[in-house]
Amino acid sequence: MVDVISADGKMTKGDDPDLHSWTSEEDFAHFMELIHQHRVIVMGSKTYDAARPKPQAERLRIVLTSDPGRYATQAVPGSLEFVTETPQAVVERLTGMGHDALLLVGGGQTNAEFLQAHLVDELYLTIEPVVFGRGVDLLGGIACDAKLQLLSVKQLNSRGTLLVRYRLAPTAAA
Ligand SMILES: NC(=O)c1ccc[n+]([C@@H]2O[C@H](COP(=O)([O-])OP(=O)(O)OC[C@H]3O[C@@H](n4cnc5c(N)ncnc54)[C@H](OP(=O)(O)O)[C@@H]3O)[C@@H](O)[C@H]2O)c1
Repeated sequence: MVDVISADGKMTKGDDPDLHSWTSEEDFAHFMELIHQHRVIVMGSKTYDAARPKPQAERLRIVLTSDPGRYATQAVPGSLEFVTETPQAVVERLTGMGHDALLLVGGGQTNAEFLQAHLVDELYLTIEPVVFGRGVDLLGGIACDAKLQLLSVKQLNSRGTLLVRYRLAPTAAA
């Protein structure tokens, strides 16, 4: 899972879905590096609507939506697919196709669903030195309960952007 947040945990500046006004070029470079390392990218429909990534032959983007028909004209089989599936079903289907790593790119509601289902093993969190008070929360305001183990912290620029990498700690039941 990869996200960029304000220091108060918001993924958007209020209602503005555009991230580029407050995120750093160093975070964008890190995000693109992760994209290039992954063959499968997963996101919720609101994140897709905000970013509108173009289909790429070398990469499969899965967009979760309860209404795939709404996106019928944009779908490109094998590159940009709109599906109604649980996180478990997405992971099982893609694992069955031979994909061993999926990159979850948000947004908050979708992050929470995957975390609740214990399907996140690592979290890359960029913290930009800004606060907004309002905006989409990292987990969409949805209750989640997980412990993280710190893997690394890196300062990305002189402005103070931090890249924090966590591993999900095993749950008591695991
Ligand atoms: N700062 C960051 O790193 C970052 C990253 C990603 C996104 N964002 C921002 O976050 C905002 C979007 O986040 P969000 O929490 O509002 O929404 P989201 O998680 O991107 O999308 C939620 C939508 O995904 C669909 N969905 C999720 N799970 C589903 C499932 N299991 N089955 C079917 N459909 C499912 C539903 O779509 P339908 O309503 O179509 O049924 C739901 O309304 C955007 O403004 C975006 O710019 C920021």
